Parts: sequence; C-alpha cells; structure tokens
Amino acid sequence: MRLSISLPTLLLSLGLCVSAAPTAGGQLSLAAIGPGFTFEYTTSKPKSKNWIGIYHATGGGPDEEEQVQPSLKWEYAPGEKGSVRIDAPAGAGGKYKAYFLADDGYKWLAEPIEFNTGNSNTNQLKIMTYNLWYGGTKVNNYHEKQVKFIRDQNVDIVGFQEASGNHVKRLGEALGWNYHQSSADNTVGIISRHPIVTKHKDIGDRTSGVQINIDGNSDKSLNFWSAHLNAYPYGPYEFCFEKKSVEDVLKIEDKAGRIGQITKIVEQTKSQRDSSTPFILVGDFNAPSHLDWTLQNKHCDVNFEWPSSKIPTDAGLIDSYRVAHPDPATESGNTWSPIYPHNEEQNASEPQDRIDFIYHTKKLKVIGSETKVAGSPKAMPDHEDNEWTSDHASVVTTYELL
Ligand SMILES: *[C@@H]1O[C@H](CO)[C@@H](O)[C@H](O)[C@H]1NC(C)=O
Repeated sequence: MRLSISLPTLLLSLGLCVSAAPTAGGQLSLAAIGPGFTFEYTTSKPKSKNWIGIYHATGGGPDEEEQVQPSLKWEYAPGEKGSVRIDAPAGAGGKYKAYFLADDGYKWLAEPIEFNTGNSNTNQLKIMTYNLWYGGTKVNNYHEKQVKFIRDQNVDIVGFQEASGNHVKRLGEALGWNYHQSSADNTVGIISRHPIVTKHKDIGDRTSGVQINIDGNSDKSLNFWSAHLNAYPYGPYEFCFEKKSVEDVLKIEDKAGRIGQITKIVEQTKSQRDSSTPFILVGDFNAPSHLDWTLQNKHCDVNFEWPSSKIPTDAGLIDSYRVAHPDPATESGNTWSPIYPHNEEQNASEPQDRIDFIYHTKKLKVIGSETKVAGSPKAMPDHEDNEWTSDHASVVTTYELL
C-alpha cells in the first residue's frame, strides 16, 4: 500500500498556499488500512459530534469548509484524541481524501489527508453512458436529479449524448470534475473524475474523445470516446411496424448515416485501438445489436446483423454488457425506453431494445455491467416529475484495469 500527501496539503503545511484555504490546529493521520481505514486524530476543540469524512480525492470534498457533496463514509471522532475505524467506500477504489471536521459541520479541525486504498479495488474503473434527453430539461429539477444520480453511481467517467446546450459543462462544474464538450451545440461530451490530458479532434460532429490519466498517472492512460449516431429513420420501426425486409433495412441503416458514422469512428480510432493504451467507446447508437437480434432471440420475427454493432465488434471492440450478460433472451439490457412502453403513432407496443453501449478493447476486464435509472419512471406523458430525467436508461460498466 502507498500513503501519499497531496501537493496542496504539503504547501498548506509549509504555509505556502496563497489561496484562502482553511487551516486548523489539530492532527489527522491514517494509522491502518484493512478492513476499512483507521484514523488517529487530535484536536484542541473536542466535541462529541466532531467527525471524520471520507471523500474522493478530487471532486466533492469540503475544500472550502462548506459542503459540496455528502461524504462517502464517515464516523464521529469525539474527544481530544482517539482513533476511529471507518468502512471502505463501496465500489471503485483509488484515491481518497479524509477530513476531520467540527461539530456536524464543515470547519476543518486538521489538514485533510489523501491516501490510496492500496487494495484490489484500486484498479477498478466505473464507466457510464448516459443519453440526457434534451439535456434532461423535459423533467422538473433535472439538474439536482442528474447530479445526485451520477454521484450515487460512484462512476469515474461518463460519456453523454443529447447534451447540446452546454449540459456537459453544467454537470462537470456541479460535480467539480474535468469535462470536455467540444462546442455548446455538440450533442456529446465527457466528464471525468480523473484528469483529461488530451482533447482529441472530433470525428464528424457527433463523436468526441479524450485521453484520461487515471489518478493523474501517465502510466495509466485511457482513450475514451462518446458517440451519438443519427436517430432517423429508426431501424426497429422499419422491421416491426413497416415490415421491411432485411435488404431494405440495411439500405435504411446506410441512408440514416449510421453505417458511415460508425465506419468513420472505427477507422479514425484505429491507431489508438492498436496502441497499448486501453480504449473505450460509449454511446447512443440509435440501433440495436446483432448480439441481441439473434436466430434464437428474434425481435419482430427477425434476426438481423445491425451494421452499427457488427462493424465495431468486427474491429475488435467488445460489448461489455454482453460480456457480463451473455444471453439476450434472459437479460435484454434494454435502454430504450423506460418511458415509452407504447407508440402513440402506431397505437402499438414500442419496440424495446438495447441501443446504448459501452465497448472496450484491451487491458480491461469486465467486472459487471448494468442498465441504470433512478426511481421508477412513469411513462409519457406523466414523466415530468420522474426522478429519472431521460427517455433512455443509462449503462454502467465496472472494469478492472489489467
Ligand atoms: C388502439 O388499440 C387498441 C387495442 O388494439 C384498440 O382497442 C384501440 O381502439 C386503438 N385506438 C386507436 C385510437 O386506434
């Protein structure tokens, strides 16, 4: 295990920090790791409700002596000195920061300390793909609901779609994370707890990518892309409602632009995928997968090799959800749509499909993958007070970095 003191903390203790960062007279140290974390503390201001809170090392901690986000885990630390054990936060490991805070509040009693978990979780990485649905604006209090959802999922990196209108910046700033949305009207963008070190050139106008260094470590780089393929015409409608043939739908997939878009993404990321750096592509592909529309699991009486899933998998990209859940008949993983069970225009059931994906290449092992929504979304048109602010489900994949 490795214990580390952050540069700002070091500067603070040397009295070199020029910002108005808080200072305090007490001491906080990490005495032991596993199980949980054991801290030792001293203070000249003992109170029964002094407390120690654990936060991620960046984003969310009370760096200005005010609440930004709730702590991941905490315990009271009464008296002038003592030791207290706090459970390890669930899910992703990595870098954390502990704060010794006064009386159920956020005033510092000691300099916070940064530390690495040093256990096997350290190499876990949690990825989300999330179509925001007009930025989330169709639902009341969307901002608070989205921030809470992303925080609760404890993810490291999110690829967004339907983010036009600077919604990536809005969410990145609210969480205190790094973000990239190449222009305000770009439908896609990325937020990350970990430093974004390069913003790649967009591929077309609906695909953006970045290089991220996990924990800021240049030996732990990752290329990450978010894509939003064109929506219309929508292939499942052509099969299920229009009863088109396989040949016709193949032409429609081309005419919609999706084949061209995914082909370009695969071509233009080739050198990244061929390099030794892990690679992740997430997005709303606006089409199902050939791994789901199989002979054994027909949809609308059809099995079909959707080009927008065939092209990336033929190029070596791995569909993380289907690694975790190999049988599409028992675990559909549908992301379209939690709020459209019914198609008004057709007066028929809306085709339900998995159209949002998290793909990866090498050096990443799938630990789990799940579709996620908040609460129990009500169907259109009763969606306005949903806790879930989108018309897609999100997908969260947990990887181990190998
Ligand atoms: C919609 O379909 C249902 C059941 O098939 C039928 O009872 C109803 O009359 C239809 N509504 C319209 C507006 O066509």
